[in-house]
Amino acid sequence: MRNYTVSGVKTSKASSPGQIFLFGEHAVVYGQPALATAIDIRAEARAEPVPNKLFKIRSEGVGQLDAKIKKRNGNWSVCEKKGDIKKLEFVSKAAELTINHVDKAQGLKIFIESGIPLGSGLGSSSAVTTATIAAVSKELGKKLSREKISQLAYETELGVQGAASRTGVSVASYGGFLRVQDENVERLEGLPELDIVIGYTGEYGNTGELVAGVKGLKDSRPALINPIIESIGKTADMGIESLREKNLGKVGVLMNTNQNLLEGLGVSSPDLRDLIAAAREAGARGAKLTGAGGGGCMIALKSKEDRKIYEAIKKEGGEPMQARTGAKGVRF
Ligand code: MEV
Repeated sequence: MRNYTVSGVKTSKASSPGQIFLFGEHAVVYGQPALATAIDIRAEARAEPVPNKLFKIRSEGVGQLDAKIKKRNGNWSVCEKKGDIKKLEFVSKAAELTINHVDKAQGLKIFIESGIPLGSGLGSSSAVTTATIAAVSKELGKKLSREKISQLAYETELGVQGAASRTGVSVASYGGFLRVQDENVERLEGLPELDIVIGYTGEYGNTGELVAGVKGLKDSRPALINPIIESIGKTADMGIESLREKNLGKVGVLMNTNQNLLEGLGVSSPDLRDLIAAAREAGARGAKLTGAGGGGCMIALKSKEDRKIYEAIKKEGGEPMQARTGAKGVRF
């Protein structure tokens, strides 16, 4: 965590990476393994002191919120909120849980800047949440461990969106490549860094609704849906094995298989399908949606014709981004 001064005001700063699921989204909610990795696109949070236990959030391109911090029934609460309450729910909840954990309150102004498109499937909420927790705890005079940041961020996500796996907050906290299964988060060393082309459809997917949709399908047709979920878990473990063998051709085939299985869970979209098809035609080794789906982003594993994939996504109406996997976790 860097502590520095802007115009005479002490500022505590932290940043966290965005992420992609190489394999296993949705199935991970039901105890299957997933492989996710941090990418070199980051979100930054800065916390500054303000007087009178006022609470302010300023999030570039998203909105702003003004509130007060008060003790109610023994707990600190961010209350009397005005402004973009819904859009800034992750930031205010993360700050509130951090204030309660440290059990110390002061007036705070939090600035958020993020290069990760919101709701895009690139883990923007986990990145913003973990960076907020790291910056606020430092501002309150306590440096938290990555484990604690990850735990508080997990509680924030559960509080705001209901069901959530630990994947997003773990990748944002630890970085690198993570195999996530239930409570077990394993950092995998020695996997090759990959060059990925991301295609953003420009639409937002609602993670809570998409997760609930899969649950509805699973509850109504378990005999059909459970094998799909188990097969997604198998693509994750086979994908890890193929990455260890540096067999990127096989990794690509498994990504395509994972996409077909996600189609079976009903979480893809026509725009995602178009971008995935365009990337494959342009020579991608494999392509799939990443994150909750229903819009958001797809990822393509580059072959030699990398620029062709980037251009093909653009031509198809998507917003292409280059990313490298295995980036560092929360920096503070
Ligand atoms: C969302 O980014 C990924 C899901 O698997 C939900 C989760 O893991 O919390 C759909």
